[in-house]
Amino acid sequence: MTQAEEFITLYYQEKELEGAETRKKEIAEEIEFTGTYTHTYEELEFGAKVAWRNSNRCIGRLFWKTLKVIDKRQVSTADEVFESLLEHIEYASNGGKIRSALTVFKASPKTEPQTIRIWNPQLIRYAGYRQQNGTLLGDPALAAFTQVCKNLGWKSDTTAFDVLPIVIQIGKSTPTFYSIPASYILEVPIEHPRFSWFQALGLRWHAVPIISNMVLEIGGIHYQAAPFNGWYMLNEIASRNFGDTTRYNMLPQIAQRMGLDTKANLWQDRALLELNEAVLYSYQKRGISLVDHHTASDQFMHFVNAERKHGREVNADWAWITPPLSASATQVFHQEWANKVVSPNFYYDFPAWQPNDDLMMQQAKQCPFHIYQ
Ligand code: ARG
Repeated sequence: MTQAEEFITLYYQEKELEGAETRKKEIAEEIEFTGTYTHTYEELEFGAKVAWRNSNRCIGRLFWKTLKVIDKRQVSTADEVFESLLEHIEYASNGGKIRSALTVFKASPKTEPQTIRIWNPQLIRYAGYRQQNGTLLGDPALAAFTQVCKNLGWKSDTTAFDVLPIVIQIGKSTPTFYSIPASYILEVPIEHPRFSWFQALGLRWHAVPIISNMVLEIGGIHYQAAPFNGWYMLNEIASRNFGDTTRYNMLPQIAQRMGLDTKANLWQDRALLELNEAVLYSYQKRGISLVDHHTASDQFMHFVNAERKHGREVNADWAWITPPLSASATQVFHQEWANKVVSPNFYYDFPAWQPNDDLMMQQAKQCPFHIYQ
């Protein structure tokens, strides 16, 4: 009730609406009779947008008002959820001119066992396979989840870029997995504007990042299935997904093709720059929205100023806002922010497929970015 009241106060204030007290009374009654309450579409839309505005780790928040909120609270079967997710993918992809969207499914209170859970961390991700000889094929970050899919009966070609199925669970029932039809998945083969050998590395990435494992909290209501997307920032794909030693680990191969001496200094930096240029070039060539880190940093500074004009101080997680490549050449590097978590917001939850032990619970309870229900 307290959280609901705080949210309603915020909503009526920011929207400059009359009638907050009446709405609060109505909610109080609904809570008394049913143990929970239902957001109007307008409340939901506002709440989701503000949750994005409040996401301390997101550099792309300048565009928070443009979020398209798709209300799928009436949906209840796994088939319907999957269909809604395909609609989301299609709307967001938009032939490459990516649109930010969030699809919200019903929030089930603990007492009602029909909780909708999407097991995937993102709707579109590449499988990772631990091979006999101990090496990894594909995305190592997804190795555990890939095994979960295989245990459910999913079969694949076993390449470095197999799109994982979407795993949907309703209540306590066994989850169902669905393969995304290839026509829905916009992908970009990576090539370099000058190095003709680059294409032969066989790199590709998907156009749209759609986070599906975070809980959207608005006014005390936890929406456990509320997948959302923006568009990519260059470094996420090039520096991290391809560059990290614990991910596709491409720097040694690129350095070798470039003829760099990996015993000399700075070979990683040279390889990283070319990798970033290749990803930027390939996305631009195909007309897929993607922002580089310098532009993203400028946009974030605009966001901070725009928020200040509205009397709001931005909270931000410096380590996440600062890009991994050429950090100090961007303005965000030179700033300091409070990292306070305010509601509405998005939180991490335990993966539905992972047995959570006491230690994990303890750690989650201490982490402001986690939700423990
Ligand atoms: N870093 C994640 C990835 O590489 C995506 C996180 C969300 N990013 C975004 N631009 N909305 O897939």
